[in-house]
Amino acid sequence: MTEHWTPASWRGKPAKHIPSDYPDMAELSRVETTLRKMPPLVFAGEARRLKAALADVVEGKAFLLQGGDCAESFKEFAADNIRDTFRLILQMAVVLTFAGGKPVVKVGRMAGQFGKPRSSPVETIDGVELPSYRGDNINGMDFTPESRTPDPQRLIQAYSQSAATLNLLRAFAGGGYADLYNIHRWTLGFVADSPQGARYRELGDKISESLSFMEALGINAQTHPTIHQVDFFTSHEGLLLGYEEAMTRVDSTSGEWYDTSAHLLWIGERTRQLDGAHVEYFRGIRNPIGVKVGPTLEPDELLKLIDVLNPKNEAGRLTLYGRFGYDKIEGRLPALLKATKGANVVWAIDPMHGNTLTANTGYKTRPFDRILSEVKSFIDLCKAEGTHPGGVHLEMTGQNVTECLGGARALSEGDLADRYHTHCDPRLNGEQALELAFLVAEKLKDERVDLQQRIAQAF
Ligand code: PEP
Ligand code: CO
Repeated sequence: MTEHWTPASWRGKPAKHIPSDYPDMAELSRVETTLRKMPPLVFAGEARRLKAALADVVEGKAFLLQGGDCAESFKEFAADNIRDTFRLILQMAVVLTFAGGKPVVKVGRMAGQFGKPRSSPVETIDGVELPSYRGDNINGMDFTPESRTPDPQRLIQAYSQSAATLNLLRAFAGGGYADLYNIHRWTLGFVADSPQGARYRELGDKISESLSFMEALGINAQTHPTIHQVDFFTSHEGLLLGYEEAMTRVDSTSGEWYDTSAHLLWIGERTRQLDGAHVEYFRGIRNPIGVKVGPTLEPDELLKLIDVLNPKNEAGRLTLYGRFGYDKIEGRLPALLKATKGANVVWAIDPMHGNTLTANTGYKTRPFDRILSEVKSFIDLCKAEGTHPGGVHLEMTGQNVTECLGGARALSEGDLADRYHTHCDPRLNGEQALELAFLVAEKLKDERVDLQQRIAQAF
């Protein structure tokens, strides 16, 4: 029999990557009480709309594009940064929609993506050992004892930054910025004179032409509001369960529990233990949820996770994000795909976290070619198993950073130091992300042609 669930029942289970070394635990409780009274950031109805969109992804009728910073930070919090990542997602979505001929479900790794699981609880520099940086909602990045001490007040700042970010995203999505007639204005300054920029302009011209044609037929933003606005959703790793618990509310329409801190939450690779606190918390919320699936997960364990997290086998409820590494995906994914044949899940790929390496210069980085290779293998392997390759989950930014190697500008190890700004893992910059979208679009298009050929042969 399943034990009774409450938003706090996770507290009775072993919890990984949740700090318990706040100097004053009573202050943490007070902050959580304050958060409990704060307005929700999202509404249950919106989460249900995302779930319905993801159900289309399960059926192969739509494609998921999810992306944003590895870790949002208080320091990089600025309207321009939010706008740049938002418009990059719009650009990539246009590219993918045009090639795949299906709607793209747009989900930002934004407005709440702060807490980070770390491989080591401590960091040592020049013989000095301090607690690791764990995300701006827990402690600070500066390598000093003060900064590295967890501070509960950071949760309030993270909440308010999430609220302000979401407010701006809602304005961009619904207020006219995302109007398809603006397609040429979304180009990021530094991308404009790159090969990707030129390619995007060409595509934009085609779409503008089609819009004029449609307008002549009486189809315009007034008759079809989807031309004027987009559905944009938010997501983050549901790591700090005290915060998530405080944001969990009963939806008055359905009487069910929703985590109102984001539309979609996922469980990270390091916290997906079946008997752990994270799985316990996630099983009770009704949002669409995700789980990272790494190279050590065996099919039988994945099936047990699916049983607990999606017992009614609802399409759109659960997204699986493979993150194996370009050289491991072939050895690991097929068995998982076979095992999940009867499960209504979205299969997506996170080609970032299995492809991280340390450059000779000491920077954590990721080669563009390996990222692309893992996405391509994902599409091929899904195809071979008869599963829809549902989407991509990327760490990326609209900023012109130098964190991942390669891409059209062939960023080298020597370039990494120029603009290496990430607070955690290396992100694709705007140009690399757009290039990836074009290459993935080509691959998806091949798939479409293939399908058409197969249908033609069948008749
Ligand atoms: C992440 O998404 O930033 C992350 C930590 O990923 P994973 O849980 O897959 O390692
Ligand atoms: Co990361």
